[in-house]
Amino acid sequence: MEQPVSRPSPLLEIREISKHYEIGSGFLGRNKQVLKAVDRVDLTVYQGETLGIVGESGCGKSTLGNLMMQLTDATSGTITFDNTPFSQLSREMLRRKRRDIQMIFQDPFSSLNPRLKIFDILAEPLRTHRIAEGRQLTERVHELLEAVGLPLQSADRYPHQFSGGQRQRVGIGRALALKPKLIVCDEPVSALDVSIQSQILNLLAKLQKDYQLTYVFIAHGIPAVAYISDRIAVMYFGRIVEIADKRALIERPAHPYTEGLMASVPISAPEQRGRKKGLVGETPNPFQPPSGCVFHPRCPYAQQRCSAEAPSLAPLADGRLAACHYPLNQGGVRS
Ligand SMILES: Nc1ncnc2c1ncn2[C@@H]1O[C@H](COP(=O)(O)OP(=O)(O)OP(=O)(O)O)[C@@H](O)[C@H]1O
Ligand code: SF4
Ligand SMILES: [Mg+2]
Repeated sequence: MEQPVSRPSPLLEIREISKHYEIGSGFLGRNKQVLKAVDRVDLTVYQGETLGIVGESGCGKSTLGNLMMQLTDATSGTITFDNTPFSQLSREMLRRKRRDIQMIFQDPFSSLNPRLKIFDILAEPLRTHRIAEGRQLTERVHELLEAVGLPLQSADRYPHQFSGGQRQRVGIGRALALKPKLIVCDEPVSALDVSIQSQILNLLAKLQKDYQLTYVFIAHGIPAVAYISDRIAVMYFGRIVEIADKRALIERPAHPYTEGLMASVPISAPEQRGRKKGLVGETPNPFQPPSGCVFHPRCPYAQQRCSAEAPSLAPLADGRLAACHYPLNQGGVRS
């Protein structure tokens, strides 16, 4: 579907992926309801890029990240990583492939075992995958500490002896241990002080260059991913509603929801203030999605067609993808 002209080759290709949860059974399953956490998402992540994924709480960002990581099974759809569909891999091959995809979480404290010293936290993946032992293991752990900017003495300490930012550095070191190709960063800086956030973002940017990493970077808002991302995908209610190069998306959002997300944060340039329409209303009840375009009850541009017909994610005149019958900023051209 996406055909960028000069992009590097795809690393991760997600096709029609869905994750539906069946909630509540009741007598004879009468009250069973389906929650579509991720619904028929198509997405390609290219080698070496950072793809930001944004959207309000509950829109399915983490579920999509977990699907990429194979932490949860898809209800339907396929994921191809490095030209190999996950579904075609044997259990052993899948275990090996999984080394190539790692994750960094929002809360480094709860994702680090408090009883293990930093040395053992960083050594664990290397031991599990029998990559290093003895002196080689110590050297590798020291390399990792250096790469994430922690002193070597950190190896003998426990997670609680570190600040949030330092703990996130340990989390990043652990993710790097197996020399992955792709790292899914699920809100890695949102729990940190603002001053620390930029240090961690700079570190991630440096590591990307040094280790030729590809990132998927998840956050609620566009500003949180703007610095680090090359492209940004906007999610609403389990679907992707727009994907575009960062600049185009920020300067000329095509989907009204993207525009709303942008306007929901303070805009620094005075001429931009008050120009855009902020988000109104709440995200819909996940068990009762609105008809047609699920965004229509909140959309300031909704027309009759919008409540009747669901728009699909399709290329616009400028090459980006958006799921809207009346996309914005298309030079007056609306399909
Ligand atoms: N294990 C589960 N069982 C049932 N529903 C789930 C489960 N995990 C997630 N959900 C639901 O799926 C939807 C998407 O959740 P998800 O955690 O992916 O959203 P998110 O965009 O990461 O939100 P946040 O920004 O708050 O982290 C939500 O409605 C959530 O309640
Ligand atoms: S399809 Fe209609 S309701 Fe949906 S985002 Fe576009 S204009 Fe708004
Ligand atoms: Mg989440």
